[in-house]
Amino acid sequence: MTVDLNKALYEFTQGRLVVIPTETVYGLAGDATNDLAVAQIFATKGRPSFNPLIIHVSSIDQAKELAVFTPLAEKLAQFWPGPLTLVLKKQPHAPISPLASAGLDSVAIRIPRHPLTLELIRQFGKPIAAPSANRSNHLSPTSPENVRQSLGDKTPYILEAGSCHVGLESTIIDAQTNQAILLRPGGLSLEDIQEQVGEILKPSNHAVTAPGMLKKHYAPQAFLRLNDTQTRTGEVLLGFGPMASTKNLSPKGCVIEAAANLFKLLHELDNLNPSTIVVAPIPEDGLGLAINDRLKRAASL
Ligand code: TXA
Ligand code: MG
Repeated sequence: MTVDLNKALYEFTQGRLVVIPTETVYGLAGDATNDLAVAQIFATKGRPSFNPLIIHVSSIDQAKELAVFTPLAEKLAQFWPGPLTLVLKKQPHAPISPLASAGLDSVAIRIPRHPLTLELIRQFGKPIAAPSANRSNHLSPTSPENVRQSLGDKTPYILEAGSCHVGLESTIIDAQTNQAILLRPGGLSLEDIQEQVGEILKPSNHAVTAPGMLKKHYAPQAFLRLNDTQTRTGEVLLGFGPMASTKNLSPKGCVIEAAANLFKLLHELDNLNPSTIVVAPIPEDGLGLAINDRLKRAASL
């Protein structure tokens, strides 16, 4: 395992990318103020260029240099560092490559909860743009092995730090007004957020289409069939709770454990080249909502 913070810093100053560990998933990171570095992120991912990136910072003061904080955002910032991204109005002269926010006047910001990456951003002193470190339409990587498998010979220097603790991307909340709007379920549960800020509008009762809500964003190569436990020849079963299965998200039926295992196990099953990955029903509570959201996207063709 190689962990060389100075090497990572040097790569950033040269406009090159570094794969960074976060508590959610590994990120494909570059200097957010450097257009070429940001372009390199899109190129490496093969990502549609209208999909804006999350900007990672190491302190709330740094976040405020880039984005306008509403009272709602002030409250939500208590979850930082952590698996929460806030979409806010961009400060007029925020030094962020327009490509990073895909030309929008808003910006998605978070402070990730990983000591190595926090120290890296702190020492670099500039904001870091980082989508998940996978090729577009592939699964989000929760280990250095997943990154290499997805990015292949395009893989830049990786700050290796083992498996990601949360294993699911950050929850994204639009906090541009004082009404929280959910743009993407993720690693911080809605229940936890609602406890602090009251009702959150969801896309079902609010016509929001974040670019990230695009279907077919998280897809394995195999077909997916959800909410089933029966397999035919050539199919594999991703179980949940006590049951016979090829792999099990959480034999004890815990959605947090299932979230941490989701991408890893989908990768492992996909590597078996099955015709279909059958996925057992997963309850909708807590992180189950985000898991089912990911699965539905992956299942949609
Ligand atoms: O956990 C995470 O959030 C990981 C780690 C690396 O931090 N990052 C991640 O980034 O998942 P990415 O690029 O895969 O997802 C970013 C999402 C996209 O769905 C994008 O559409 C949305 O954030 N987004 C970014 N800026 C936005 C904006 N200004 N308005 C609405 N959505 C935005
Ligand atoms: Mg992604």
